[in-house]
Amino acid sequence: MQRNTLLEYRNYRYFKIASLLTISAVLAYLFDQPAMGAYGGSWLGYLFGILSALIVVVLTLYGVRKRLPSIRTERRNSLNASSPQQDVPDRRKRQASWLRHHGATLQGWLSAHTYMGIALIVLATLHTGFQFGWNVHTLAYALMMVVIISGCYGIYAYLRMPRLMTANMGGINTFNALLLEIDDLDKQASVKSLQFSDDICAVVRKARQETLIGGNFFRQLTACQRNCPTAKAVQQLRLLGKSLKYDQLKSFDDLFLIMAHKETLVRRARLDVMYRARLEFWLYLHAPLSIAFLTALIAHIVAIFFYW
Ligand code: HEM
Ligand code: HEM
Repeated sequence: MQRNTLLEYRNYRYFKIASLLTISAVLAYLFDQPAMGAYGGSWLGYLFGILSALIVVVLTLYGVRKRLPSIRTERRNSLNASSPQQDVPDRRKRQASWLRHHGATLQGWLSAHTYMGIALIVLATLHTGFQFGWNVHTLAYALMMVVIISGCYGIYAYLRMPRLMTANMGGINTFNALLLEIDDLDKQASVKSLQFSDDICAVVRKARQETLIGGNFFRQLTACQRNCPTAKAVQQLRLLGKSLKYDQLKSFDDLFLIMAHKETLVRRARLDVMYRARLEFWLYLHAPLSIAFLTALIAHIVAIFFYW
């Protein structure tokens, strides 16, 4: 997902629409002088409330729209499979262009989702007339804000993480290739360490057996293992190397370089896990909380009409 196709989609189309809506709402709010003061029940309050609710419906439909291409593709594939007389390359070409078109449309939806979601902050706040309390109405508002803030983080992550991930991998193609390289370095270090004292062998073995990549939620998000055995091994080898005889130094240097290289690759692997976790974790807040928000919003509307 690129900055120029998401935030700048169709020459900032949704940014312009959302800005226009927001500015008009602020102006209307400033010029309107309701007898009872600004609140959700004035005519302008109702207008802002209904507009906000409509936007929320469209934002929620994004989840459905997101899954639509794969559903339709599956249906098309099964239809195509039942007409074998069709030219296969021709069919593939049309499917590819259809998918490209829907990919672009989905970006349009996400662009609209982003800007209209942010415009909601202004519209819904003006709707409330800044009247908050410990009630279901304010609960709906608070949930909405959490959903919007998590969404803003999501967009930031989508735009920033992929670039950081590519830079971090430093030319290694996949995470699995990185793990294989670390494993290979472990094997080389184990073999090399055999010619040295038990202390050195133990340090290398511990680094091989106890170094963790990934792990629990906190470790994934922070890319850290406290007292990382590999980092510790590199420090210890630096000290242990000082007591070696001259003729062992060349071989020891090789071992040290292997372990130092492993330390770099382990750091890269942990960062890769961290970037992926940061790309995903917020959606575990965003999607369920948007349902919680929707429920609170329905409760708010029902409560309004119940007391009315
Ligand atoms: C995103 C959508 C919405 C949010 C976040 C929201 C939130 C709020 C909040 C926080 C208040 C102030 C409550 C208070 O005075 O303590 C309020 C008031 C009100 N809302 Fe909404 N609202 C939304 C949509 C709607 C819709 C669609 C309607 C009507 C169809 C509506 C009707 C009202 C009314 C009538 C009040 C005034 C209640 C009163 O002061 O007695 N709201 N809303
Ligand atoms: C009250 C406002 C919002 C609601 C109700 C809402 C709702 C949703 C829903 C239902 C999904 C689909 C989740 C899924 O099925 O995986 C979604 C995805 C998403 N939303 Fe929101 N959202 C809101 C505001 C925002 C805002 C303000 C932003 C950004 C500034 C945002 C960014 C995103 C992103 C990046 C995704 C994931 C896109 C993807 O993975 O395809 N959302 N949102």
